[in-house]
Amino acid sequence: MKNGWLVVNGFLQGEKYATLYSLLLSEAKKRNVSLLLKRADELVGIVGERIPAPPEFVIFWDKDIRLAEALEAQGIPLFNSAKTVGICDDKAKTALAFSNAGVPTPKTVLAPKTFDTVGYNDLTFLERAEELLSYPFVIKENYGSFGQQVYLVHTRAEAVNVISRISPKEFLMQEFIQESMGKDVRVNVVGGKAVASMLRHNERDFRSNISNGGTAFLYALSEEQEAVALAACKAVGADFAGVDLLLGKTPLVCEINSNPHFKSTLDCTGVDLSKYIFEHILERL
Ligand SMILES: Nc1ncnc2c1ncn2[C@@H]1O[C@H](COP(=O)(O)OP(=O)(O)O)[C@@H](O)[C@H]1O
Ligand SMILES: [Mg+2]
Repeated sequence: MKNGWLVVNGFLQGEKYATLYSLLLSEAKKRNVSLLLKRADELVGIVGERIPAPPEFVIFWDKDIRLAEALEAQGIPLFNSAKTVGICDDKAKTALAFSNAGVPTPKTVLAPKTFDTVGYNDLTFLERAEELLSYPFVIKENYGSFGQQVYLVHTRAEAVNVISRISPKEFLMQEFIQESMGKDVRVNVVGGKAVASMLRHNERDFRSNISNGGTAFLYALSEEQEAVALAACKAVGADFAGVDLLLGKTPLVCEINSNPHFKSTLDCTGVDLSKYIFEHILERL
């Protein structure tokens, strides 16, 4: 019997998270895999210490990169790897990985580095971004989810307002894909295959996230969309991921999630990602 851990963030509580974990745990049971739910905060102190009875694998459903690296340093395979989780969690790192691999994305400008005690006290760089992007454009904090740290700005005054509100958090600026207003396609990829996809639409907001009021519809991917989603996963080395595609004239990758909230995919498409995740992991071990 294989044994693994499902490492989750102990501070994220509530139904939304518990449902996902129970889907993974019950799939493990079906496959006769012993899967222990471990809160990352219970694993403090693990750095440099040998784990007495290490698991054969870890499904890493957290974003604590240092913990992920500490587990990998002990020879435990992680799904997804520390490297992948780190790239996907940081939208600026994702943009670089996509650009290096030639994955099509909206034009993106990374804000320069500042310091927590200083913030963005000089906005000259905004003029350069305006030349490259023109209004309206999107501002995204490098770390964020559920559309909560993504802003659409129409004028310099709005841009300055958003930047001063989020300062000193790191952010990027991105071309707004008008044709995709309030819409995107969530493609769930496991082991290099697109296993479920849906169109997400919000009529009242430019952000289509379900948790932000978007509605999901069944959606058949074009060959081009599928190829772009698979290329995005390859660029970040993801075993599994939720890829957000924007509906431009040609498909563009908006972002990639290394621990996608696949309950909304299950509700819309009937496809349970945990089944594919376990198939993939058991094949890899
Ligand atoms: N460049 C863009 N052009 C048009 N819509 C966008 C763009 N970037 C993001 N969006 C919309 O905002 C949503 C949230 O952005 P995303 O980058 O996926 O952040 P999050 O991690 O919060 O989901 C997307 O699903 C999409 O609907
Ligand atoms: Mg998203």
